[in-house]
Amino acid sequence: MSPDSLPRSMLITADIAGLRRRVAAARHAGQLIGCVPTMGALHAGHVSLMQQARTECDFVIATLFVNPKQFGPQEDLQKYPRPFEVDCDKCREAGVDLLFHPDIRAMYPAEFATFVAVDGLTANWEGVIRPTHFRGVTTVVAKLLNLTQPDKAYFGQKDFQQQAIIRRMCRDLDMPTEIVTCPTVRDPDGLALSSRNVYLSPTERASGLSLHRALCLARDKVQAGETNLEVIRLVMRAEMEQTPGVFVDYATIADPDSLVELSDPQPRMVALVAARVGPTRLIDNLLIP
Ligand code: PAF
Repeated sequence: MSPDSLPRSMLITADIAGLRRRVAAARHAGQLIGCVPTMGALHAGHVSLMQQARTECDFVIATLFVNPKQFGPQEDLQKYPRPFEVDCDKCREAGVDLLFHPDIRAMYPAEFATFVAVDGLTANWEGVIRPTHFRGVTTVVAKLLNLTQPDKAYFGQKDFQQQAIIRRMCRDLDMPTEIVTCPTVRDPDGLALSSRNVYLSPTERASGLSLHRALCLARDKVQAGETNLEVIRLVMRAEMEQTPGVFVDYATIADPDSLVELSDPQPRMVALVAARVGPTRLIDNLLIP
C-alpha cells in the first residue's frame, strides 16, 4: 500500500481550544486550510464539497453543527436528522482531517448577544418565507470561519441564495476566506440532493421532480430564443402547480449576483424555485445558460 492509499486518521473534536491549536499548527506548517460547514445528515452533495476541498487544500476541516439560530419557530429543528456515526464515516472516507462537532453551549453561551446580518440579498425569496433564517446562517458561518480560519470554504450551489449571502458577508467584513461554490449534486432523475429529502414519501418525491422539470423548461425556453422572462416564469410555475401536492412559493429568473428579479434577458441568469411538497419545503436553481 502506498502512503497515499492508506486511510487517513480523522480527529473528531468538540473542543474550541483544541480546534484552535490544531488550526494554528496547520498554519504554522504552511498548510492551505479548507473548511466545509455542514449541519450533518450528510449526502453525496456534502461529500462532493469535502472531496473538492481535499483536492485543493492540505488540511480539510468539516464542521457538523445543527444551528438552532437558522430554524424558524415552526421549522424542523427537533426532528432534523442527526446520524452522527454515519456522518463521521462519510467525512473520514472523503478525506477530512478534522471534524469539528461543537456543543450548543460552546457555540451559544447563555449570554450570547451578537448577530451578523446581510442586508439586501436577504430581502427576497427565502428571506421572505424564512425571515430569521439567513441571519442565523451568517452568524454561525462567521463564527465557524473565525474558529477554523480557512483559506477556502465550500458551499453547495443548491442553496444559491445562501452562498451569495455568505460571499457578500466575507467581502463586506474583509474576511480573508475564499468562498467556493460547488455544483448541485442530483439523483439520476434530477432531484437535487438535500438532507430534507428523507422526509419525502415516494409520492411526494415524485412530485418534487417538478422543480427540476420547471428549471429545465426555463433553460430550454431561453435557449430556444424566448426573451419574455414573464412568460418563462409562468411556464415554470405552471409546471410545478399542475403537479399534485406541489404548492409553489416562488418561481423566478434573477441576476445571479444581486438576486434581483430580471425583466429582460442578460448573459448570466439564475432560475430559482421553491415549493412545498407535503410538509417538506424544497428549493432548487439552475444557472442559465
Ligand atoms: O447549508 C447548511 O448546511 C447550513 O446552512 C450551514 C452553511 C452549514 C450553516 O449552518
